[in-house]
Amino acid sequence: MGKDKLRRFEENRSFKCLYQPEFEEVFRKDYHMKGRWHADHFKNDNPVVLELGCGRGEYTVGLSRRYKEKNFIGVDVKGARLWRGAKSVTEEGISNAAFLRTRIEFIEWLFGPEEVSEIWITFADPQIRRDNKRLTAPMFLERYQKFLKDGGVVHLKTDSPYLHEYTLAMAEKNNLEILNLVKDVYKSIEEEVISGERAELLSIKTHYEEQFLEQGHPITYMSFRLPGNKKIVAPEWDHDRYLR
Ligand SMILES: C[S@@+](CC[C@H](N)C(=O)[O-])C[C@H]1O[C@@H](n2cnc3c(N)ncnc32)[C@H](O)[C@@H]1O
Repeated sequence: MGKDKLRRFEENRSFKCLYQPEFEEVFRKDYHMKGRWHADHFKNDNPVVLELGCGRGEYTVGLSRRYKEKNFIGVDVKGARLWRGAKSVTEEGISNAAFLRTRIEFIEWLFGPEEVSEIWITFADPQIRRDNKRLTAPMFLERYQKFLKDGGVVHLKTDSPYLHEYTLAMAEKNNLEILNLVKDVYKSIEEEVISGERAELLSIKTHYEEQFLEQGHPITYMSFRLPGNKKIVAPEWDHDRYLR
């Protein structure tokens, strides 16, 4: 392991905003913070917003600076990436943001019923063909239902037409209420189809996003409501269309 990575892992242990549960603490077992994030970490009743696969946490940090009346938690498995977000939060003294190093597969053991109000999924791997790894597949949405408030909002920002279209088909198949659907975020901002707070929100750029933009990929965005007790079924979906 590189020296820089080791130094980051070492420093990660000092960040009060960063939680790094051991495998045994969260595998099929409730983590001690489950149902306790408001009371024990944020010490307020403000809504909790998760960013899944947050990497360096640009959305978690950007949104927490902008929305003081909400709490944000970035989740990722990679400690060296989380270090960046946790360092910014610590240096800036941001009290409404935290980070969690864990696998998203374990998430239902980390958050209690109705503990979370919104979920952001930022530039997740589309996981073509791997339904049990795709963050908007029924298996994951049904996990989110266990801790998301009834009708809580899921936001998806991606460069992947596959992930965008799959998620849209999923929302349509399950009659989920679609709140926003943007085919090209930056073109829409440039043409002032999107402006004000929404433009500001969608203009936060992540590390991966910068790379995709350089490669000329259009960035899409959608958001939808996820009801609490609805069985989620997969859309009919032609994976091969994206691989041809
Ligand atoms: C393509 S990167 C995007 C990172 C960041 N959102 C961005 O836009 O720069 C995907 C991120 O998801 C994380 N990730 C992928 N699968 C995960 C899982 N099962 N549990 C936790 N994190 C995961 C990876 O570590 C990686 O940081």
